[in-house]
Amino acid sequence: MFITFEGIDGSGKTTQIVKLSERLIAQNYDVLSLREPGGNAISEKIRETLLDAGNDIAPRAELLLFVAARAQLVEKVIRPALLAGKLVICDRFIDSSVAYQGFGRGIPMNEVQECNKIATGNLVPDITFFLDLPPSVAAGRAAGRSDEKTDRMESSGESFFERARHGYLKIADNEPKRFIRLEARENPEIIHEKIWTYVSDLIKKRN
Ligand code: TYD
Repeated sequence: MFITFEGIDGSGKTTQIVKLSERLIAQNYDVLSLREPGGNAISEKIRETLLDAGNDIAPRAELLLFVAARAQLVEKVIRPALLAGKLVICDRFIDSSVAYQGFGRGIPMNEVQECNKIATGNLVPDITFFLDLPPSVAAGRAAGRSDEKTDRMESSGESFFERARHGYLKIADNEPKRFIRLEARENPEIIHEKIWTYVSDLIKKRN
């Protein structure tokens, strides 16, 4: 089973991924938790290039780098893990490219979708949790993490994140079965219980 998390920076994905994977591991599921871009040596190198605030990257080069990192992760890590029966959880996947490079940077959607298809060989998550938060609130949360430097994507400005959020909301409208919108301002425990209900239902259906 393949589960992904989406949301603009500062939406609380990490907290929810940790809670979900700990609960699954406690129930003896074989869980592999990954992040995009990253999750293997090559994709981590691409990540460094993408997030380095000193790099001036053209929008289409940015898209191609994100999907190159994705292609490597899918081929070398995700598909083998799914074939081995693992439950794979990924922090961001195809929908990040749609929201950020498509809606955020303005790259035509057919180009983004085609790049995603090439990178994934049509692998689509079984379920995706979208933690929704207005960018102004998310920016405040991110600023609270004073130990981290602002990366290249984070310095894209609030209107960029507004467009990305709008993109996520569009995906939620288009794919209501797979792409689940959750209110990220709710208590993290309540959010976790909602996620757990969806995941355990899905597991039951699979068995
Ligand atoms: P990261 O530090 O992992 O952000 P977060 O903790 O919010 O997930 O950095 C990843 C950044 O890259 C984030 O700003 C989202 C962006 N991104 C894209 O623009 N397109 C993509 O396809 C992916 C996977 C990420």
